[in-house]
Amino acid sequence: MQIFLDTANIEQIRQAKALGIISGVTTNPTLLAREGSADYETVTKKICEIVDGPVSVEVLSETADEIVKEARFKAAWAPNVNIKVPITPEGLKATKVLAAEGIRVNMTLCFSPNQALLAAIAGASYVSIFIGRLDDIGQDGIQVLEDTLAVLGNYPGLEAQVIAASIRHPMHVTYAAMAGADIATVPYSVLMQMIQHPMTDIGIRRFLADWKSVAKDNR
Ligand code: E4P
Repeated sequence: MQIFLDTANIEQIRQAKALGIISGVTTNPTLLAREGSADYETVTKKICEIVDGPVSVEVLSETADEIVKEARFKAAWAPNVNIKVPITPEGLKATKVLAAEGIRVNMTLCFSPNQALLAAIAGASYVSIFIGRLDDIGQDGIQVLEDTLAVLGNYPGLEAQVIAASIRHPMHVTYAAMAGADIATVPYSVLMQMIQHPMTDIGIRRFLADWKSVAKDNR
């Protein structure tokens, strides 16, 4: 499973890139707003200078024609820009057009296997299942992810990769990987939690203390 970073924070992207484990980035209007920026173009270009892999940029238009126009404009910002299009009838129409033009679509705000199936048929390169938001309303986000993977797995001709999105904690990542998700897009805080374990910290301190007790130069 690949790990994408779910943020528009440049410093977090730099830090995560330095770890050597990030394959892409996903953004959305909320994440831009969180950074206090309405300049989606400048932020996206900065991200694309740091990250070689796919960088998802969301459209704000709501009709198919406008989505296509906005997507073409945003896709020209950098070669690795993917366009996030919400799953709606207009979004599906736009996805068909964009996929035919070679613009890669990340169909976003998917909450059911049927939505993901339609997105894949329309030609989306990625479908994002929002696990955390499903859990928030008392549904089982991981179950929806598993069902989506089972459905799309029956049709190898459909090329959409499944992204586990709206990740809230490290166990979401574990379950997404167990289910066989192609990608999990994780907030920076969750990525840091994934690295840490108290027993690792205790182990390092104990190794260093034991070594100090016998080594003269502490090396
Ligand atoms: C996915 O691409 C979205 O940006 C993101 O995962 C949404 O997460 P949230 O539900 O925490 O806002």
